[in-house]
Amino acid sequence: MRTAAVIVAAGSGERLGAGVPKALVRVAGLPMVTWSARALAEAPEVECIVIACPPGGEDDMAEAVAGHAQVHAIVPGGTSRQRSVAAALAAVPDDVEAILVHDAARPLITPTLVSRLIARLRSAPAVIAAAPVADTLKRAGDSDRVEATVDRAGLWAAQTPQAFRADTLRWVFADADDAELGSATDCAGMAERRDVQVLLHDPEAPNLKVTTAADLRLAEVLLGTGRIT
Ligand code: C5P
Repeated sequence: MRTAAVIVAAGSGERLGAGVPKALVRVAGLPMVTWSARALAEAPEVECIVIACPPGGEDDMAEAVAGHAQVHAIVPGGTSRQRSVAAALAAVPDDVEAILVHDAARPLITPTLVSRLIARLRSAPAVIAAAPVADTLKRAGDSDRVEATVDRAGLWAAQTPQAFRADTLRWVFADADDAELGSATDCAGMAERRDVQVLLHDPEAPNLKVTTAADLRLAEVLLGTGRIT
């Protein structure tokens, strides 16, 4: 399927405390976003890549992804993740059949995972990377006191990439108002709300989201040496 990839990279990454936008923090020798751009560019289905970056940071972003001919546009992101997705979607060419949305904060994405998600779009309009929850879950009451143990059966943690048939994702965003773009935390959730069938796909490999300095060190180890593909 002819595919466009959107990378959302407009977050500030305050929890990382690096002083630069999270997508530009270096991991194993490269800006974090470069790992995602490289993996997406290596997937044969991906024809073009659109990146949402911090407003004013277009030149730094262009430098971080230079050399990948698939990069089609770099646009200023919005004040929420989903507003950044919407800004990027507006720059995606009309003629693609599939659109994949990915967080720059997940640098362990592989071309194999991208291709598998796109292949499964033949049987459903949406397929997302996700992993079954392995930990026992607790709901907190006041401060750190446990209120309840939550049954983890059937619970999955959503990740990115999230792949959609292009017409489906465009319709979902056209139907959403600005309040929803401010509150939704992923594209699949917006699709589910409109009864779009969303499939789960377990990457069966680390696909961590870099949020803290400890995550960054772990990603550094996995990308630098022990890469599992
Ligand atoms: O903040 P969080 O880590 O949940 O963000 C997930 C992804 O969304 C990151 O890659 C971040 O750069 C992106 N994002 C964005 N625009 C925002 C907020 C987050 O592109 N306003």
